[in-house]
This record gives sequence, structure tokens and C-alpha cells, in this order.
Amino acid sequence: MWPALRLVRRHLSTAAARGLVYEKHGEPAQVLRLQNVEVSSPLDYEVRVKMLAAPINPSDLNMVQGTYALLPQLPAVGGNEGVGVVAAIGRHVTSLRPGDWVIPVDAGLGTWRTEGVFNESVLIRVPSDIPVVGAATLSVNPCTAYRLLTDYETLRPGDTVIQNASNSAVGQAVIQLATSLGITTINIVRDRPDLRSLVQRLHDLGADHVITEDQLRKPEMKDMFKTLPRPRLALNCVGGKSTTEMLRHLDYGGTMVTYGGMAKQPVTVPVSALIFKNIRLCGFWVTQWKRERQQNREEITKMIRDLCDLVRRGGLVPPQSTQWPLEDFPQALRDAQSPFLSRKQILYMQ
Ligand SMILES: NC(=O)c1ccc[n+]([C@@H]2O[C@H](COP(=O)([O-])OP(=O)(O)OC[C@H]3O[C@@H](n4cnc5c(N)ncnc54)[C@H](OP(=O)(O)O)[C@@H]3O)[C@@H](O)[C@H]2O)c1
Repeated sequence: MWPALRLVRRHLSTAAARGLVYEKHGEPAQVLRLQNVEVSSPLDYEVRVKMLAAPINPSDLNMVQGTYALLPQLPAVGGNEGVGVVAAIGRHVTSLRPGDWVIPVDAGLGTWRTEGVFNESVLIRVPSDIPVVGAATLSVNPCTAYRLLTDYETLRPGDTVIQNASNSAVGQAVIQLATSLGITTINIVRDRPDLRSLVQRLHDLGADHVITEDQLRKPEMKDMFKTLPRPRLALNCVGGKSTTEMLRHLDYGGTMVTYGGMAKQPVTVPVSALIFKNIRLCGFWVTQWKRERQQNREEITKMIRDLCDLVRRGGLVPPQSTQWPLEDFPQALRDAQSPFLSRKQILYMQ
């Protein structure tokens, strides 16, 4: 289940690789060390992968901090997402060949490394004609956006979706997927000094309406719904006040799905929303969704294919990013934890 661990400990090494390893939980910049990790030849169902690039996502940081729902045995290599190229395969591997690009299907692989050996069952092939950053950031956030828009409400062109933290990587994927489906998006962001350029960026991705947390609380919000149907679906990445305010605008019988808790505050729901508006509340975790489909991968394969097709058509661009060589990880970690940057920090391995 945690190939990363076995890798660090295995002694039959045939190649030296480097990875960001932590031996105890704590602040990522303090506990992560760039060190050699041992990589052996792939056994029967194993695949040796040269990693190309891997992002730093909030859940990666939470895992290192020890606050995430899934924690690997220590020592572990950080990182849950990324893209690599298959360098060698074990003799029973059937789904992959050398040269294939692969991304993780499961969490906890430890992608912040130059090379690793994984079981073929935890990897899935992606086309190598999409941009590296697009592939490296595909398996978590766009997949989450896809499921959020597909699994909770039957949305039709012209329907409305409202979301907070809309400039997050998930939020940007929601905007683009919704646009491809003809769904209108109301996108909430936090106010900031360069708000105008952020608003323009989100409009360029296809966002119909971009409003700040403060505007969301203003009575004028009602005017928006004179011409726009109330949202059937609200996507909550934040918690606290942001969520309570967003909830007020949902349509009767609508659904709010919580998938993130960036404000680290609980969700407070007015009882009237439950009694008089019959609002449905649920949560989503992409790791669990994928784990439940590991045996029969049809739905996962379809989702990855749909997303890659959209990438190829230019309908899904990766979030703006800054690319760092692995050894510059301390600065990359700092930027990944800075508010209002609105850029993904990507570690480049080769
Ligand atoms: N449940 C799942 O399956 C699943 C899957 C993917 C992601 N997630 C979660 O979704 C969230 C976003 O992930 P991501 O990779 O898309 O993030 P990201 O690209 O790193 O963006 C982080 C977002 O959070 C906002 N933010 C940070 N601190 C905040 C605060 N105190 N209050 C309100 N907003 C705040 C940022 O807004 P500013 O620009 O204003 O700082 C930004 O929009 C994370 O919590 C992640 O764990 C969950």
C-alpha cells in the first residue's frame, strides 16, 4: 500500500535516486530532507519510474504535518501527485511499457523524488502529448472537479454552480469543466491587492461571475438572481463564514459538497437552510472515490480520458505555476504556503 517506504528501506539498490524524505511529522520546511533513496530493479508486477514533475498541494503538506486522514509509515517520501516516465518494467507487467507517461491512481506514493519503483496497480498511463505540468497536476484537482460536477446534481447547460476558493487549482478546473458543459459559474475569491488581475485570469478561463467574500454578503447579490437561476450546486473548499454565506444562495433542494477546509473552521449551517430550503450537505474525498474503484477501473479510465481530451482541445489548462529544481524545495514550500499567490509550486526532477 505504501511503496514509498519499502523503497527507502530496500537494500538491493541498483541506482541512486534523490527524494524529499521525512522521518517525523512537523512543519514541512523543517522535517523534509533531500537525500538519496535506493531504487532497485522492478520485480514481477513493479515498474521503475523516472519522475518528471510533481506539484506541492495542500494535502501533501498536511500529510507531512501529520494532520491528514492518510499517513504513511515513516520514514516516507513526500508528495502524492506528479507525472513520470516508465524506465523499466517487471516481467509480469501488462498495462505499461517503457516510455509510457504515468500518474498515480492512489495517494501516498511519495512523488517528490527523481525515481521510484511502484506496483503497476497504483499507476495509470496518460498520453505523452499533453504538457508536463498538465499531466503532473491531473490526478488530484481536475479529477476532483470532474467528480464534483458529475456526481451530486444532474446539471444541464444554463444551470448555475457557486464555489469558494475559486482561484484554487480545483476551483480553476471547476470553472473550465463547467464552461465546457455550458454551466454558469459564480466564483468567490478572497479580496487582495491585485484583485483585478485575478478576476481577469478567472474570466479568461471561462468564469461567468467572480465576486469577493465581501460582495457575497451584500444585499445586491439578490440582483444577480433576477437574471440567473439560483445554483443547484455549491462547492465548498473553505469552511467558516465563507461557507455559511455561500449556502444562502443555493436553490431550494440544492446540494453543497465540502471537499476542502482551507480556513480551518467548521461549517455552520442555519437550520432554515435544512428545514425550509431542504439543502443537502455532503463531503467528497477523491482518494476514497478512487480506492473504491481500484479493482474495476472503468470509471477512472474514462475520467482520465475525458480530462486529457479536454486538455488537448485547450479546454483545460493547468494552474499558473512556478517550477523549481528539487534542491530548491525550501523556497517552493514557502511559496506553496503563502496566501494570495495563486500559483502552483511544481518540483522538476530531471
Ligand atoms: N476532498 C478532496 O478529494 C480534495 C481533492 C483536491 C483538493 N482538495 C482540497 O481542496 C483545497 C484546495 O486544493 P488546491 O490544490 O486546489 O489548492 P491551491 O491551488 O493550493 O489553492 C489554495 C486555495 O485556498 C485558498 N485559501 C488558502 N487559505 C485560505 C483561508 N484561510 N481562507 C480561505 N481561502 C484560503 C487560496 O486562496 P488565496 O489565493 O486567497 O490565498 C486558494 O484559493 C485543499 O484544502 C485541498 O486539500 C480536496
